[in-house]
Amino acid sequence: MPIPWRDAMSRALYGPGGFFVAGAGPADHFRTSVHASPAFAGALLRLISEVDAALGRPPRLSVVDVGAGRGELLHALLSLVSTEDAAGLVLTEDAAGLAVGVSGEPTRSGRSGLIPPRAGSPETLTSAASARPSGEEPSSVAVRPSLAERVRLTAVELAPRPEHLPEEIEWVSEVPAEITGVLLATEWLDNVPLDVAVHTEDGWRYVLVDPASGVETVGELVSLDDLDWLTEWWPTSSPGADGDPDRAQAWTGAAGATESGFRAARPAEGSSLTARSRPGCPETPHSDQRRAEIGRTRDRAWAGAVRKIQRGMAVAVDYGHLRKSRPVDGTLTGYRAGRQVPPVPDGSADVTAHVAMDSVASAGAAVARCAYSLVSQREALRALGADGGRPPLSLAGSDPAGYVRALAAASAVAELTDPAGLGGHWWLRQPVGIPLGPAVAR
Ligand SMILES: C[S@@+](CC[C@H](N)C(=O)[O-])C[C@H]1O[C@@H](n2cnc3c(N)ncnc32)[C@H](O)[C@@H]1O
Repeated sequence: MPIPWRDAMSRALYGPGGFFVAGAGPADHFRTSVHASPAFAGALLRLISEVDAALGRPPRLSVVDVGAGRGELLHALLSLVSTEDAAGLVLTEDAAGLAVGVSGEPTRSGRSGLIPPRAGSPETLTSAASARPSGEEPSSVAVRPSLAERVRLTAVELAPRPEHLPEEIEWVSEVPAEITGVLLATEWLDNVPLDVAVHTEDGWRYVLVDPASGVETVGELVSLDDLDWLTEWWPTSSPGADGDPDRAQAWTGAAGATESGFRAARPAEGSSLTARSRPGCPETPHSDQRRAEIGRTRDRAWAGAVRKIQRGMAVAVDYGHLRKSRPVDGTLTGYRAGRQVPPVPDGSADVTAHVAMDSVASAGAAVARCAYSLVSQREALRALGADGGRPPLSLAGSDPAGYVRALAAASAVAELTDPAGLGGHWWLRQPVGIPLGPAVAR
């Protein structure tokens, strides 16, 4: 029997035996930035370190990963933080650069080469003494707990806790309250169930779907709330014709959001798994009718998560689009065992749709009351010092081992910054009670 897409997605992904709550987990079916390279966690660690500094290095810094999969990102962050700690070092912006595998110089400096510093070299790892803010007494610095001692890692996931997850990582099913720190959401929002509408002669109507077959039919006219959302965020007139080309700019002043991640698609290199970025081709009630994916549920989910932050930053990384370039046919699609498949919501495959990132950002800003930044992953990683550029050939002569290390780091970052793939995903950074940091406001 046909049901609304939102109900179909909820059951298929999160109901009993649902795709995400049963089985091996997302990494067996598709490839996200988290799976692609540890450089992704390294870049996030640099951002976390900046937020930590902006918060005045609080006694407890929370890092909350919403939609944590099987905890891969937090596991990677834990390893990075612990490594720094074991070396008896205070994690600073420069030390995080080592984790990113980059030069430590954000692209603002104009440097494009990628030269990872050697472990332990004085220019990258900063001792407690040299990391001390000016004017502070040495004795007070000596007892300051390291980031590893202060950080608290929490995975928010509907799937059960994986068996071998380190005990340092807490596992909960709801976003905790009163977060001081960083809330991360990588490829969460695209899996928040949503309704789909089709534009008919008498207005927007819901698209219904048969969960077993994926066959669609046209349902009722959309509710007033959904109609309001569609009118504001998914105009039926030609793109950009509404006089307000990009709402993201209105809040950010730093958006630089130039391209939609909508077309970011390619098979993952060196892997049979596919990065989830490709718009699908579902059977539509009439192929000439315009479709829309109603992002109101994602807006609510994001605003609810941002509301849990007392001070800090929320970061959403996902594929999506802006109002000036919404897709005409919709983006619903499925993934199973490394392949893109039709979006049949029978629980056997992922069902995902691109995210209306500007609408989500606006919903978050209404809660945070702070300027945000919305840029491509390529831009965000560059600002964090991960640019994927090749090391200069001259390095091969002066430091052959360093050159090889730099090449390996460059190729890891290259996948994350490829504008036709993961680099085309969006980074939404939403500060709460702190300014946009130097690696954010460019
Ligand atoms: C595509 S996976 C992303 C996994 C991981 N963040 C990554 O980037 O590899 C989306 C995950 O979000 C989880 N999820 C969806 N809605 C959720 C919610 N309301 N609360 C907690 N987890 C949720 C799903 O169970 C799934 O594991």
